[in-house]
Amino acid sequence: MVDGRAQVPETGRPLRVALLGLGTVGRAVAERLIDAEWRAAVTARGANPPELVAVGVREPGRKRALTLHASIRQTADLDELVADPGIDVVVELIGGLEPAAQLVQRAFEAGKHVVTANKKLLASFGPTLETAARAAGVVLRFEAAVAGGIPVLAPLVLDLAGNRISGVRGIVNGTTNFILTAMARDGRTYADVLSEAQGRGYAEADPSADVEGFDAADKLAILSRLAFGAWPEVGQLRRAGPDTEGDATAGITAIQPLELRYAAELGLAIKLVGDASLWGDAVMASVMPVAVRASSPIGSTDGVTNVVEITAAPVGVVTFQGPGAGGGATSSAVLADLLALARGAGSTWGQLPEPTRTLRIIDPLEVPRAWFLVAADAIGDGVAYRVQDLALASAGDAVVIQPMGLGELRHRLEDRGIRANLYPLLPES
Ligand SMILES: NC(=O)c1ccc[n+]([C@@H]2O[C@H](COP(=O)([O-])OP(=O)(O)OC[C@H]3O[C@@H](n4cnc5c(N)ncnc54)[C@H](OP(=O)(O)O)[C@@H]3O)[C@@H](O)[C@H]2O)c1
Repeated sequence: MVDGRAQVPETGRPLRVALLGLGTVGRAVAERLIDAEWRAAVTARGANPPELVAVGVREPGRKRALTLHASIRQTADLDELVADPGIDVVVELIGGLEPAAQLVQRAFEAGKHVVTANKKLLASFGPTLETAARAAGVVLRFEAAVAGGIPVLAPLVLDLAGNRISGVRGIVNGTTNFILTAMARDGRTYADVLSEAQGRGYAEADPSADVEGFDAADKLAILSRLAFGAWPEVGQLRRAGPDTEGDATAGITAIQPLELRYAAELGLAIKLVGDASLWGDAVMASVMPVAVRASSPIGSTDGVTNVVEITAAPVGVVTFQGPGAGGGATSSAVLADLLALARGAGSTWGQLPEPTRTLRIIDPLEVPRAWFLVAADAIGDGVAYRVQDLALASAGDAVVIQPMGLGELRHRLEDRGIRANLYPLLPES
């Protein structure tokens, strides 16, 4: 392969695909690849449908909902699969860091292209994997790693190539948005809705990656690489919860139903938002619950739906909304990457130069901004009365506070004996 484009088989034969993982996403991808109607539709659009030749899983003999033709090899030896000269593309859908990282590295060393949906892998090892793919002259595509079925990475890199990107933000975790939406609509507690989400398969048994913002931070790291030209250190992205002292668990676990009700009375919604914007030569980046105008694109995105807003010049603000997870939706992005490879497209970073540095990240919380505050304790004369000199609007024990830095606001609240949950107000785009 030369000049960042994939090597398409010269004979016109299809790309030979090995699929690692037959779970929620892997199965949905396999179903399409072996489906005669899907293949005919792809062919009718002038593309060469890739051929599924092998599948790697933990237990090849296990009975599964999907029956694969005997000609498709099933194996538990994933190391052998990524080295197999009869494979052109490895599709990594096992998730997690290991053995996924080693398998992807070995696939590169064996000259194979890789498609993955693994945001954790990319956010943790992005620079190493990018360098390795470039050095091996192979392609790495990962559209499915951010916002599932919504095409957002390719448009960011390709269709907005004539712009200067100054910000990317949005709801990139469907689980937390499902929980917040149900809490706001029905006045239910976090714990109650979480157990419903787990029952419906929207949340893991251990939900911390979603509800504490780790998953959204991984996606924000990937968006930042493509928007701002370098990989950030994912641990440096600010994850926060809604507390005054700064010691509450990051994410949505501390949010109270009453806070969502007061927000609604003020025309606001509380959402877990990933937000990265240029700040001089650095990037201000965070994943935290924020108050946002309820009728805005972010404020009105409910349930498991995702939304991503890209601010760029000269275009302005471009908004992408759609299904951010689920086998079918996510397989759409994986299949698109496979078809892009089949037509000779390069890696998801396109023509962007290889980063020579790590992105410098700054914490957005000390930058003056307006706040949505909800008193933690009932106050005799009312919280709005005690902060009336700072208030822009109020409802019950909740107040919208005029712009100021978090340090200053904490200081002023302490002086007045107020304990509160605090949500930054997301500026309108
Ligand atoms: N689910 C979504 O909606 C979604 C959306 C966007 C991105 N993603 C990403 O897509 C990837 C796959 O997610 P998923 O939801 O499809 O996961 P999943 O349902 O848990 O499936 C994982 C699959 O990988 C196999 N596997 C795991 N570890 C393995 C190992 N060490 N050796 C061999 N096989 C192994 C499992 O094998 P067994 O079947 O034998 O257990 C299973 O088939 C993850 O990176 C995830 O973050 C998922």
